[in-house]
Formats: sequence, C-alpha cells, structure tokens
Amino acid sequence: MKDRIGIDPYLDWLRKEGIPVVEDFGVDLPAVQTRPWPRYGVNGAAVHLKGRGDFVSMFVLDLAPGAASAPQRHLYEEVLYVLSGRGSTTIEAADGGRHSFEWGPRSLFAIPLNTRYRHFNGSGAEAARLASTTNLPAVLNMFHNEAFVFDNPWAFGERLGQSKYFSGEGDFVPLRPGQHMWESNFVPDLAAIELKAWDQRGKGSKNIMFILADGTMHAHISEMQVGSYKKAHRHGPDFHVMCVTGEGYSLLWYEGESDLRQVRWKHGTVFAPPDRMFHQHFNTSAAPARYLATAFGSLRYPFTEAKRRALMGTGEGDPQGAVARSVKLGGDQIEFEDQSPRIHELYLSEVSRP
Ligand SMILES: [Fe+2]
Repeated sequence: MKDRIGIDPYLDWLRKEGIPVVEDFGVDLPAVQTRPWPRYGVNGAAVHLKGRGDFVSMFVLDLAPGAASAPQRHLYEEVLYVLSGRGSTTIEAADGGRHSFEWGPRSLFAIPLNTRYRHFNGSGAEAARLASTTNLPAVLNMFHNEAFVFDNPWAFGERLGQSKYFSGEGDFVPLRPGQHMWESNFVPDLAAIELKAWDQRGKGSKNIMFILADGTMHAHISEMQVGSYKKAHRHGPDFHVMCVTGEGYSLLWYEGESDLRQVRWKHGTVFAPPDRMFHQHFNTSAAPARYLATAFGSLRYPFTEAKRRALMGTGEGDPQGAVARSVKLGGDQIEFEDQSPRIHELYLSEVSRP
C-alpha cells in the first residue's frame, strides 16, 4: 500500500474537478483556456502562480452569452474580479434573504461565507469572464473533507453586512495613509473608486484597502500617476497583483541578485511576487495605472504574523507597515535614494520607447 504522506487534499480535489490548471510566474487571464467545469455548469480553469503561497489560488470562470452558473455554497472565501462582460450575481443567505447586484468590467465583489450564489450573464451576445481568488487551498487542506467544505449548513449571518453593501455602496473607514479602508461586498468599478494618497510608497501613489464581506481574504487597489513608479519592497507570498487600468511593467529580484526579472502588464495580467522577492511597479502609460491585489490576510484579519507585520507595523511608534518602511529602519522597502541607478535608467528607456 502506498505511503499516505505528503498529501495535498486541494490538489487531489482539483485533479478530480477535471479543469485545466495553468501554472506560471505570471498569466494573461483573458487568454487562459477553459473547459467545462461540471460543478459550476460553465467553463473554468485554475491558475496557480509561482508566488501563490500556501493559502490561495485563482480560478477563471466563463459565462457564455445568457448562461448561468449552477448554485454553489462553500466554506471558503471568494473574491471575484470581472475581466470582461456584464451580468449579475444572486446571493441567498441561510435566512432566505436574497441579494442581487449587477456587475460589469472591473467590478470587484466577494461571496459572503457559505451563502448560496449564482452568476448570470446578462448579455445575450457577449461572453463574461470572472477571475476569482479563493482560500480554498487553506480550507481544504485544513479539514480534508469535501462534504464539510461544500455541503455545510452553518450560517455565518454576521458576514452579510449591511444591505447597501450589495448595491455598490459602502462605508469609508479612515485610518491613516496606506490603511484607509472601504467596507462593502461589491465595488461596481475599480477604475472609478476614489483612492487616498499614500506618498510613503512613492510620490503620487494612492491606494485603498478593502474589507469585503467581513472577510479574511485581502484586497486592495493601488495607483501610480503618469510618469511615475512605486518604491521597491518585499513581503511574504500570495499577493495576486492584477492590472486594472494603464500599462506598465514590474521588476522582481531576490536580495543579492543582479539579474532583474521583468513582467510586462496590461489589463488582465496577473502575477504574484514570490516569498521575500523584491518587486517594483512602473507605470509606462499615458494614464494613471491601477492594480488590484488579492491575498489571504486582510487588514482587519491579518491571520499570519507576516501579514500583520507587512500591513500594520510594529506598534512601536511607527504605524506604517513594513511594506512602506525603509529597510534601513527595519522595514522591507527600498527608498528611491537607495535604489540601484539602473532602475531609473531602465524606466527612462522604457517610457521613451516608441
Ligand atoms: Fe508588494
């Protein structure tokens, strides 16, 4: 009998689901090939990035014109970003309450934990593609029991939040630059939501942290102005970075390495900086560039000590997380004056390309 060691219940489950699994450093989500996913009744694929970490993976869901996904309910959290198309999602809570909202390109929403939901393509002509980030690997590997995860009657009523959270409204929770939060379940257009200045990540840098469906799943959006780039920093794995507006590139390298890895991005590109790999984002377009980052461990519920350190600081007089504090001050950010001169030289040559 085969030794029962080294088991990954999530990967075992995924093999049985029969959908394609795309594995790469970065992935162009609109180009991912999907196949019928019996569980959802529509086409799907899984996306495993090199830096996905232990807790998170992505799925792509395709809704053909007029199609609807089969009802789902599960004990893992899910944050969805609309790559293309228009449609709606219906959420049915255990108390019978129903919530429905209409999404379009660049919408962001979360499924409140263990509620029953369906996605509908509202167009008879245009397909819709959703990119979902979930903590299914964490949950399935924790319990390794499919029925517990996919057929569990527990109602998490507190995760629903206010009714207005399903209508595109939310609550702004002011904290401090880098930590201002928008609490909701549904954000209609990530290109339109107001961001707040966070100059510690680079002049003109803006962001907002999301708290979606009171979840442990993380989401935030960042913006770089025209002709600018962020400071380099590093942190643990699993931040899935998705370009929302604009175009540009990112450089990645491990400490001590002289070779820089370059990832070019545009709408639909996703990549996940691997564990402790320095990375730096550059806007080369004529418009502000925004990217969405999903991960495990929110500002409200960081879950791991590493996320707490990255997002919240040490609590010793510096409220800035390590992602925005200089390496000279015990943080994980390289200030502009400390970066290698070739970083800026490369940027100048990139923005002057015809
Ligand atoms: Fe980062």
